[in-house]
Amino acid sequence: MEDHVDAELFDKVVTLCKVRGFVFATAEIYGGFRSTYDYGPLGVLMLRNVKQAWWRSMVQLRDDVVGLDAAILSPPAVWEASGHLSNFTDPMVDCRSCKERWRADSIGDTCPNCGSHDLTEARAFNLMFKTTAGPVDDEGHVAYLRPETAQGMFTNFANVVRTSRKKPPFGIAQIGKAFRNEITPGNFIFRTREFEVMELEYFVPPADAPTWFEYWLEQRFGWHTDLGIPESHLRKRVHETDELSHYSARTADIEFRYPWGWGELEGVANRSDFDLLAHSRASGEALEYFDQAAGERYTPYVIEPALGATRSMMAFLLAAYAEDEVGGERRTVLRLDWRLAPFTVAVLPLSKKPELEATSQEVLGLLQPSYMCDYDVTQSIGKRYRRQDEIGTPWCVTVDFDTLEDRAVTVRDRDTTEQVRVPIDALLTELVSRTAGP
Ligand code: GAP
Repeated sequence: MEDHVDAELFDKVVTLCKVRGFVFATAEIYGGFRSTYDYGPLGVLMLRNVKQAWWRSMVQLRDDVVGLDAAILSPPAVWEASGHLSNFTDPMVDCRSCKERWRADSIGDTCPNCGSHDLTEARAFNLMFKTTAGPVDDEGHVAYLRPETAQGMFTNFANVVRTSRKKPPFGIAQIGKAFRNEITPGNFIFRTREFEVMELEYFVPPADAPTWFEYWLEQRFGWHTDLGIPESHLRKRVHETDELSHYSARTADIEFRYPWGWGELEGVANRSDFDLLAHSRASGEALEYFDQAAGERYTPYVIEPALGATRSMMAFLLAAYAEDEVGGERRTVLRLDWRLAPFTVAVLPLSKKPELEATSQEVLGLLQPSYMCDYDVTQSIGKRYRRQDEIGTPWCVTVDFDTLEDRAVTVRDRDTTEQVRVPIDALLTELVSRTAGP
């Protein structure tokens, strides 16, 4: 399929995110801050749902994966051993005319800002954020903000094996913030300097690594499609040898068709025994597994699926955005899977009349323990439906004057706009059946 730039879709999604409260520019009142973003009332809900969907599939539904939440700050020794201090770099060039800096591999020989060809030689720029831990600002107190969560899982390998009694094949999963001083961040939340990543380090006997690599690539591809990204928007791409990260023996990306063309969504890497061996050598602690049955000690290989939570949220938003016509009226609708939508249900009293208030609050109270709900009494019911469509709410529950007589409400479906009457007593059961899944 040919790449085509759909700038209109990109702009519409970015605007919707800002206007409806998904994503705001950080420190916007001061003019923003270098491609850094805050997640607003709807964005925080959706991002939590993306992370929850990942955690559910990677940890909750498996008996071979445990979780971890390691520190963001860590000492230089970790990054020296992991190879990040010497290798986690991008090639950077300066434009001598306008003084802009660029990633050399993304611009060719022309400055995208001023068109000059007067560029410096490329030099390696390390992407890690450096800081100091404690009140003394000297080399002895240097710490780094992690650029990936993975290292916390390698440095805790022996702790986890000892305490969880897991044996290969098994995995450690982690979700958390990562920081990279990207030379050229951009495309909204696609590439930022602070982002959230969801990573699994899956430890396997070395001979089984190729099989597990294929297994995880398939599993992860299926996760995106199961949550609503059409297969036509996804493809797999194996890395050429010269693009592999310093730790990787083999990597395949799951790419998404962004409005500007195909690009990385998730990476699946075979990190071999690179990290465990490196930390073992540097720390002096054995990071091995002793297979009692075979009487063998070995260093496991690691298969690693790694996906940016924030980048994943952006892909879901782009794939879900649609405009259609309902009853002769144009509408914008986010066709998000119900598991990802910020609100699962909106409770809407037909009017502001006080007699509807008590029953509407009763319905809200019935649903809130099970679902994230919105409650909206402003504007006409038609406008409120449009608003809920635009933020992706799968179901609206309307309380009207008949409700006071028959104790039934109207449940409206976002995608079909179909409405059915449901007794309040049966409302939870109705929603449970609509959200029942595998
Ligand atoms: N531990 C493996 C690792 O860090 P990576 O491909 O560099 O691999 C993993 O990053 C994922 O994190 C990417 O596939 C992407 O989804 C996301 N990601 C990487 N850099 C990012 C950035 N600057 N902003 C947002 N997401 C990013």
